[in-house]
Amino acid sequence: MKFYIETIGCQQNEYDASRLSVFLKSFGLTETTTKEAEVIFILACSVRQTAVDRVFGRTRNWFKSGKKVYITACLITEDKKKLEKIGAVYFKDFDELKSILELEAVCSQFTTNSCPYIPIMTGCNNFCSYCIVPYTRGREKSRPTKEIIREAKKLISHFSTAQHRSEKLEIMLLGQNVNSYKFGFAKLLKKINDLPGDFEISFISSHPKDMKADVIEAIAVLPKVKKEVHLPLQSGSDKILKMMNRPYTAEEYLRLVKSIKSKVHQVRLTTDIIVGFPTETETDFQKTVELCKKVGFSLAYINKYSPRKGTAAFKLGDPVSWQEKQSRWKVLNSLINK
Ligand code: SAH
Ligand code: SF4
Ligand code: F3S
Repeated sequence: MKFYIETIGCQQNEYDASRLSVFLKSFGLTETTTKEAEVIFILACSVRQTAVDRVFGRTRNWFKSGKKVYITACLITEDKKKLEKIGAVYFKDFDELKSILELEAVCSQFTTNSCPYIPIMTGCNNFCSYCIVPYTRGREKSRPTKEIIREAKKLISHFSTAQHRSEKLEIMLLGQNVNSYKFGFAKLLKKINDLPGDFEISFISSHPKDMKADVIEAIAVLPKVKKEVHLPLQSGSDKILKMMNRPYTAEEYLRLVKSIKSKVHQVRLTTDIIVGFPTETETDFQKTVELCKKVGFSLAYINKYSPRKGTAAFKLGDPVSWQEKQSRWKVLNSLINK
């Protein structure tokens, strides 16, 4: 049987996709293109409506061409039910998938996983008012340090084989908010840094409220840690930040940036921004522009606000027009990404 994995969303899903691929291959299935596949696996994302629409659109097309569709990852219950109605099969984890697929063979271990992502925690406790992630992924759960180190060691030894000699391994630590890693993020960075081997360490994302001095210090001094920080700003307007339930002000964000820049030599800063959050005026938006100019981001993921049912901001509606969002998006994009 031939399969194809459609991955939508963030690195968390990309990581899960690579594990799913190993899992399916261990049962003798082969990976192929969308066109040739008989079975499609979708790792869904609900962070924006466009991502959800894509899942529905593609699922319908795949059914039309006679393929089977299995879905997992971030979906709200309502969408899950709708997809099941059109014939897709939802599974929450490998165990469930295994019984669904009625595969009898015992799963081989995910030892030679060539995917350089390591999730250090899953879920989120922050409940930013616009965001669906705490609802689709649940509360924060940190993985034990020992388990992470074991995985990192495996990756390092796997990459030191002939096959990979030409590239340098970059281990990317994943979490919605890595700085609230329960067993100490700075300590974890140091432990991975001290493993023997020639590799680099990067991580996403850092919530500004949890970015503390010990982590900044660790980035500055540990030689294997990349001098890069992804620090989602979301908005430069204090009014909007408050409404977003992001517990910092533009001033505090800038102070944090200054402290990072002063300690981490030639640091590369990247960010996420939402344009067109409900009630965002031109003046609010200009505050975001001003702050971006002061920070000098190397890259920004600019997102047009998309109301998500079930979140706190949903009741505010979507008063900023698509045209307005688009024009604000363009302003920031040409300021930062060009
Ligand atoms: N945990 C990460 C981000 C996860 S979601 C963090 O807080 O940094 C990735 C990005 O999607 C967010 O940073 C935000 O900019 C964007 N996003 C989330 N919900 C959104 C929504 N409803 N509309 C538009 N963009 C959204
Ligand atoms: Fe969403 Fe905020 Fe959590 Fe990021 S920190 S996943 S934006 S709730
Ligand atoms: Fe990631 Fe989307 Fe889920 S951003 S955590 S795949 S809702």
